[in-house]
Amino acid sequence: MWYFASPLIVFGDDALEHLNGIEGKRALVITDHNVVKLGFVERVGKELAKAGLEYHVFDEVEPDPSVQTIKRGAQVALDYQPDWLIGIGGGSVMDAAKAIRVLYARPDVEPNAINPSEILNLRQKAQLVAIPTTSGTGAEVTWMIVVTDVESQRKTGVASRETMADVAILDTSLVMGLPPRITADTGMDALTHAIEGYTSNWRSDFTDAPALIAIKRIFEYLPRAYNNGSDIEARRHMMYGATLASMSFGNAMAGLAHSMGHALGGLFHTPHGRAVGLFLPYTMEYLSEAAANLYSDIARFIGISGDSDLEATRALVAQVRQLSKSLNQPLSVHEAGIEKTAYDKALPGLVERAESEATTITVSRIPDSAELERIFRYAYEGKPVDF
Ligand SMILES: [Fe+2]
Repeated sequence: MWYFASPLIVFGDDALEHLNGIEGKRALVITDHNVVKLGFVERVGKELAKAGLEYHVFDEVEPDPSVQTIKRGAQVALDYQPDWLIGIGGGSVMDAAKAIRVLYARPDVEPNAINPSEILNLRQKAQLVAIPTTSGTGAEVTWMIVVTDVESQRKTGVASRETMADVAILDTSLVMGLPPRITADTGMDALTHAIEGYTSNWRSDFTDAPALIAIKRIFEYLPRAYNNGSDIEARRHMMYGATLASMSFGNAMAGLAHSMGHALGGLFHTPHGRAVGLFLPYTMEYLSEAAANLYSDIARFIGISGDSDLEATRALVAQVRQLSKSLNQPLSVHEAGIEKTAYDKALPGLVERAESEATTITVSRIPDSAELERIFRYAYEGKPVDF
């Protein structure tokens, strides 16, 4: 038995107006200082006022939200007793909102101990709305949460299907001002989600369908959104494409580029999307024979031809590198600005971290430690994986 989970998705250039039709008494808006400064929280407040709801703002979420911040947010919720929680921001804010809802309904649960086998019964207490202000993380439709423990300096990925938002609002006007670098990083994250979702061992028809459309849209519209941020058509397709990509990987699991990207990000603080996008072509090369039938599906769907599955796969990998290049993304770890000596020294730790990721066991060829180390070395030099 398998499941495909998704919130209600509200989309459009005016989707935020959905909020003026919700029923309730009080809403807690969870966000960060930057989103407040952009005026988005004020817009949310106006819609809530039209719906007759009072609201309170918790704007203390930091990048990579900590256990401590989540607990503070939950305390604010416990004091205010909202019937709606509204997370508006990037992946960190939406993850924090998901975790705050867990603790609001279940103050006995530790944020980094959330797990899929425990029944939490969250929905009676409050409904959760997730509103992304970037196009890539997909946290608005996934049920995973990344929690950081400041004291032990460790990031933990926790998951329970119940943490998923009830409503995801995709309003194009919220992503129009994203700077090119963030557009590129988050866009490459979305592409990686879709390609890894499509090639995961846990894939299904339900995850294949959104992945293919997402990949097609991202190849077409990411360069446009990067080159001209006010191209509303490109922004709209990137926003929807990123959510579709996450509907795929969120239900099917991501893959090796995420394992390696998380490891790199953990030790060198490389932004998530830049790190996973960097490793994507190398991991595709490593998996090219084992998953040639799947990569070639993708290639043909986006109009790349090849005499054999393997040839189409290679052409797809070339297309991924070409896309990264057109966005001025680093094509190797060296280009990402990481010193060779520091990288060499960190290699055992990178391999150990990548190996312990759940996304390493859902791919069609599972690397051992020595192979992972080789992929890390090839990616440093920018050398295509040939083994
Ligand atoms: Fe990702």
